[in-house]
Amino acid sequence: MRPTILMRTCLAVLFAWCLIATRAGAVEVEVLHWWTAGGEAAALGILKDRLKESGIDWKDVPVAGGGGTQAMTVLRARVTSGNPPVAVQMLGFDIVDWAELGVLADLNETAAAEHWDRVIPAAIQRFSKADGRWIAVPVDVHSVNWVWANQALLDELKIAQPRTWKDFIAALKKVKDSGRIALAHGGQPWQDATLFDSVVMLTGGPDFYRQALIDLDSEALDSDTMREVFDRMLVLRGFVDDNFSGRDWNLATAMVIRGEAAFQVMGDWVKGEFITAGKVPGKDFACFRFPGTENTVLFNSDQFVMFRVGGEMREAQLKLATAIMNPKFQSAFSVIKGSVPARTDVPDADFDACGKQGMADLARADAAGTLIGSMAHGHAAPAAVKNAFYDVITAHFNGELDTEEAIEELLDAVESVR
Ligand code: GAL
Repeated sequence: MRPTILMRTCLAVLFAWCLIATRAGAVEVEVLHWWTAGGEAAALGILKDRLKESGIDWKDVPVAGGGGTQAMTVLRARVTSGNPPVAVQMLGFDIVDWAELGVLADLNETAAAEHWDRVIPAAIQRFSKADGRWIAVPVDVHSVNWVWANQALLDELKIAQPRTWKDFIAALKKVKDSGRIALAHGGQPWQDATLFDSVVMLTGGPDFYRQALIDLDSEALDSDTMREVFDRMLVLRGFVDDNFSGRDWNLATAMVIRGEAAFQVMGDWVKGEFITAGKVPGKDFACFRFPGTENTVLFNSDQFVMFRVGGEMREAQLKLATAIMNPKFQSAFSVIKGSVPARTDVPDADFDACGKQGMADLARADAAGTLIGSMAHGHAAPAAVKNAFYDVITAHFNGELDTEEAIEELLDAVESVR
């Protein structure tokens, strides 16, 4: 994204506005985010309470829409109109893009004093820093290559945890033949892409995932492996219900919670819905890595960035950053959110079995070099590329493109935004 003159002018107006607000003593941090589902809102409430203890008021700017697409659209409109929020939830390459505008608050002093460099995995820091300086605060680490299942339905149908693609398809077929919905899914581009992430990792493995979705290597995109990925997406399409189109992710989760559907392939924010519904892993639901991706973690880390302001507002931002990086907050937030802490020095004592597995998987993947950014959640390539993938994957999933046409469209789309 290139800084426009209008954007820079608007931002100059903003700084003046913030100074006035500061002179008025209104130390209220306005935060834009997309955490509007039950588990998300419950987790966010912990941060709001912590800030209140630090004497900071939280002005909530929730923008509904999973994956954050709508939130980023609202952010751009707010900035262009000279009225950006003081802090924003943001992912991966969107942080990189906004940092290039030179408008994000420098958090380096706080980061150095609190030794953030020592406790945040390098794969996450890649998105938290610009020119070696901290400009974002990692709140959590989610990962997308998870499957969630209704335990009672698995028990009734005598379905064991699928370890391979073949097992998974057999399990989905068994559920469908029983008259239930095999795969709960929301037909939205970011959700289709989240499914795609796992199928790419299963089919091609970490090296192929990097070549195709991060390096955007044409040979990888035009390979038989990628054709197999798209063909497998059509197989999964055959297991979703007729009303999947446009469904929000948390409504798909509710279908699994109620036992109407057996499986959902989605990031571990899903666990936040199970937790707030009072469900227990191992008893009410099962969590396991998408078959064939067990040794990898496809991550997306929620971070907060802050627009550069002065005076008391700046102090409030630094208090927000410190509150987010507090180890006790990192644990309490992720226990409810379904993520794992961004800090690697947080004990897993308060986490349930899924959380403990998530933390162990993260540490192992970080050490093994298989902690890889999710394309669907903006950690593989910039937004323009991500959106190009979204368009092709969703058109193919909805039957508007066959596999050959999808490959062609993908090659063209990537070339046009490369
Ligand atoms: C992800 C985000 C999660 C959750 C999810 C569903 O991009 O990292 O925190 O909000 O979208 O909206």
